Amino acid sequence: PALDLGLDPEQLVAGVPLFQGLSQDRIQAIAALLKSELALPGENLCRKGETGDAMYFVSSGAIEVRVEPEPVMLGSGDFFGEIALLKDAPRTADVVAKTFSDLLILERRDFQKLLDANPDLRKTIETVAEERLSA
Ligand code: CMP
Repeated sequence: PALDLGLDPEQLVAGVPLFQGLSQDRIQAIAALLKSELALPGENLCRKGETGDAMYFVSSGAIEVRVEPEPVMLGSGDFFGEIALLKDAPRTADVVAKTFSDLLILERRDFQKLLDANPDLRKTIETVAEERLSA
């Protein structure tokens, strides 16, 4: 749905705190699985109840997760959309870009590949998903 900016995913990946400390090889392998997109202010990225085909890493920008009682704001280094992929379940919330935001998109078909190759990343994503589900 978002604009393809043609930014180099490898550069964006290297700048995401979540991926920092990884070797150049690892970053290259991760970047190869990600697509960079520019989300526009007001753009809807996830719709509650819909099937999710991808998860998103935030390179820059402000992203709002519409949960009760208060929306949660995400920014650089955060990710979202992981729950639908991990649980094979519908989206748990609406997610909307508040500003122009550089995102890195991981499609469902590459999700297991990335997690299998990066056990620490798997652990982080699983832990955050559990925290969010119990929030
Ligand atoms: P998913 O359910 O695939 O799509 C909506 C996303 O919103 C969800 O994955 C999480 O990434 C995110 N999300 C859901 N609940 C919370 C929460 N309490 N705090 C932060 N993010 C959340």
